[in-house]
Amino acid sequence: MKNIIIINGPNLNLLGSREKSQYGSVTYEELKTKCTNKVKELGINLTIFQSNIEGEIVDKIQESIKKYDGIIINAAAFTHTSVAIRDALNIFKKPIIELHISNIYKREDFRQKSLISDIATGGIFGLGDEGYILAIISMQKLIKDEN
Ligand code: DQA
Repeated sequence: MKNIIIINGPNLNLLGSREKSQYGSVTYEELKTKCTNKVKELGINLTIFQSNIEGEIVDKIQESIKKYDGIIINAAAFTHTSVAIRDALNIFKKPIIELHISNIYKREDFRQKSLISDIATGGIFGLGDEGYILAIISMQKLIKDEN
C-alpha cells in the first residue's frame, strides 16, 4: 500500500473558528475525518500532521523522504516566508501537492508569493476544504503512475 502524508502549517488547527469567511466552518477534526474516510475508499495509507513550528515541519519533511510516496502540504503562512521548508521539499524527489483553502492570488499582496509553487508537482487553491479531498485523489493518481 502507498503511504502519503498531509502536512499542515500554523493556525490550521483552528479551522472552523478562524476567519470563517476565508477558511469555512469545517473544523480541523472534521477535516481529518473527511480525509481519513477518503483514503479508506482509495486504499492508501494517510498520515496527517500539523505544526505551528517551522522547524518541526522541516523535520517532518526530512522524515518523509524515507517514509512516504507523496506529500500534500498546506504550509499556511510559511508558504510565503520559509526558505527552509522550500529547501526541505526540494530534497523530496517524489510528488508534492501544494494546497491552500483560500485563493491566495485574490488576497493581500504578501500572500500572492509562494516559495513552494515552483518546486511542487502541482497545486490546488481557493476550493475550500474540498481541496484536501481533491489533493488526495490527485496524489493517488500521481503515485500510481510512478510504478
Ligand atoms: C492558507 C493561506 C495562507 O496565506 C494563510 O497564511 C493560511 C492558510 C490557506 O489554506 O488558504 O494560514 O494556506
